[in-house]
Amino acid sequence: MYVGTMSVKYEQEKWDRRYAAAKGKPRAAQVLWEGHHLLPPSGDALDLACGLGGNALLLAQAGLTVQAWDLSPVAIAALQSRAAAARLHVQAVVRDVDAQPPMPASFDVITVSYFLQRALVPALCAALRPGGLLFYQTFVKDKVFQTGPANADFLLAESELLTMFAPLCLRVYHEAGALGDITQGLRNEALFIGQKTEE
Ligand SMILES: C[S@@+](CC[C@H](N)C(=O)[O-])C[C@H]1O[C@@H](n2cnc3c(N)ncnc32)[C@H](O)[C@@H]1O
Repeated sequence: MYVGTMSVKYEQEKWDRRYAAAKGKPRAAQVLWEGHHLLPPSGDALDLACGLGGNALLLAQAGLTVQAWDLSPVAIAALQSRAAAARLHVQAVVRDVDAQPPMPASFDVITVSYFLQRALVPALCAALRPGGLLFYQTFVKDKVFQTGPANADFLLAESELLTMFAPLCLRVYHEAGALGDITQGLRNEALFIGQKTEE
């Protein structure tokens, strides 16, 4: 318990420092900006481990009722003021998603970008309502150039998102590996859109 609390505090301080130094507008992940036409016109959405909330802001612009959760108070404060300035309603809160994952059947859309916590996968699938969509994007182990985390625990094995989210119906998947002209197209990352089928 003590070790867990210490590592949460370490993680929080690490991200607070990064966000305090961050410049520029947060952008939604490619999986969401490319797939935003698949969003429902209304409903409840969650940007999990949202950071500065590029996904949350796009979801709010698209008409969804948005919650955004992150461990970093600095990121959450920045998102709250950015959303207010844009007159967008985003309920941004500091929340440790490992300790407090989303409740079952609570969201129509969930976005997760650059946050790989495999233990949360069953909770993410359960948190979608029937027909709900998961947008997921993060780094892969099989890199063609050096970006993203060095720690292999935070990198996806080949096709891992397909296995991880096998309970969902596959709608979109991209993972190009080192195929063809590596200067073209998205590399180093996998992206996935899955839908919970009607129950
Ligand atoms: C690489 S950033 C990605 C942020 C955002 N999703 C994006 O695409 O820019 C990883 C984020 O995970 C957050 N995080 C790490 N552990 C967390 C936890 N247990 N609960 C909630 N957020 C967490 C960090 O604070 C950080 O904002």
